[in-house]
Formats: sequence, structure tokens, C-alpha cells
Amino acid sequence: MNRSLSKHILWGLVSGLAMVVTVGLAWAQAPATKEAPAKPAPAKPAAAKPKAAKPAKDGKESDIESAVKRFEGEGRDIFQKRCEIVEVCQLKPGMMVADVGAGTGLFTRLFAPKVAPGGKVYAVDIEKKYIQYIEQTCRQQKLANVVGVVCPADSTKLAPKSVDLVFICDTYHHFNHPEKNLASIREALRPGGRLVVVEFRKEKGVTPDWVMKHVRPDREMLIKEITQAGFKLVDEPQVMKMQQVYRFERK
Ligand SMILES: C[S@@+](CC[C@H](N)C(=O)[O-])C[C@H]1O[C@@H](n2cnc3c(N)ncnc32)[C@H](O)[C@@H]1O
Repeated sequence: MNRSLSKHILWGLVSGLAMVVTVGLAWAQAPATKEAPAKPAPAKPAAAKPKAAKPAKDGKESDIESAVKRFEGEGRDIFQKRCEIVEVCQLKPGMMVADVGAGTGLFTRLFAPKVAPGGKVYAVDIEKKYIQYIEQTCRQQKLANVVGVVCPADSTKLAPKSVDLVFICDTYHHFNHPEKNLASIREALRPGGRLVVVEFRKEKGVTPDWVMKHVRPDREMLIKEITQAGFKLVDEPQVMKMQQVYRFERK
């Protein structure tokens, strides 16, 4: 073997050894198995936002949101005593009920399960946005026996003899046409049907000034108007300090 051939053989052996060492080192540093790409952390479920009371686009409180706070807040006597008020209505399955001046549906949603199966609650209000809100919240709560009615200011728009009970809470004093409203309510009631009215008391020296100014009829005026419209006063259950509950029957 001449000298140049043995140099080539030696050089080949050295480079082969170097390659084996490099590959070996690289293999030793690599992970044993191919790691799966890291899974993104599961997103936290979004806080359950009330779908119905969306804030207004400019970030301000919407009309509905502020109405829900006013009508369905613990600061309201009527809200605190809502279960007692529902009891006074003596609802039974199969009854047809109208919540006239339903607002955000506080009572409509409490009445609906009480008259099921077979009964219905008509949520009646002059404000379309309230009726839409009631329909939406009833769908969310799977209350299938609620019918929304947007009415004019002087009528319930209910069919004659279609309901067993009309409920008017914190709304009678809003009636600017009480004679027409009462005629429409009487027409919607079946013979012997009942009318439950919840209204502010108006007593000098006891009732706050804003109520004295805001509320039109006092007890005597309210009873007079309603009895003259063809109703008989049955009783006045004591439920709240500031408001009075009146139970009437259609004559
Ligand atoms: C103070 S809120 C009471 C809402 C509900 N009854 C409650 O107690 O939570 C009065 C409601 O009566 C409605 N209203 C006013 N005048 C009305 C009328 N003539 N017929 C029907 N609803 C009326 C208003 O739009 C409002 O929703």
C-alpha cells in the first residue's frame, strides 16, 4: 500500500467516526416521542349574561335594564311581598289570567306556572318593549303559556269573557281613562270573574309626598270608580304598609 492511499483510508475513518458521534449526540438530545402540540387552555365559560336585558350600545343602562332594577329590586315593597301577592290571587291550574300593566313581567312569570296546565297568562301593556322583554324571558324560562298583548291606553284588547282574573299592580293610577279601562276589563272577565288591584295608599301625613303627587286616586276614589264600573268589593287583604291590595268580583 503506498503512502497516499493509506492517508485517504485514515482520513475516511476519522470523518466517519466524527459523523457517528454528531448524529449520536443529536439523537440523545431529541425527545423520545414527538410531543403533541400544546392544547390551548380551555376557555372559561362566559358569565351567563341575561340575554334579554342588553345594555344600550353606548354602554349606558337601557330602559329595560333600569325598569328591571326598579320593578324587580329588593328595594321595592311589592317585589319583597310578591309571593304573598300571588297567594292573594288564588290561582289554580286551568285559569285564564290577565296581568294588565305587566311591566317587565314580574307577576306574569310568577303566575304562569300556577295556572299550568291548561291556563294562560296574558301580559298586557302599552309598552311594546316590555311585552317583547316578557316574551323573551318567558321563552328563556320555558314558560309556554304566556301571551303578550300590546294594548292602547284605554283598552286591554282582550276578547270578551276570555279571562277569570285580571290583575293590576301599581298601574291603576296610570289609567287616564279609568271608565274605559274598567269597561274593557269587565268585558274581558267571565261572569263571577275577579279583579285584584294593588295600589299605593294615599294617606296624608303617612304617605310620602312624591306618592301623594304621583298617584291620582285615594282609597275612596278607587273603590268608587271600580264599583261604579260593575264590580263588588270583596275584601282588602293586608299585605304591605305602603300599598293596598283590593279584591273585587265582576257583577
Ligand atoms: C309601575 S309599572 C308596574 C308594572 C308591573 N305591574 C309591576 O308591578 O311590576 C306600570 C306599568 O303600567 C303600564 N301602563 C301604563 N298605562 C297603561 C295602560 N293604560 N294600559 C296598560 N298598561 C299601562 C306601564 O307601561 C308600566 O309597564
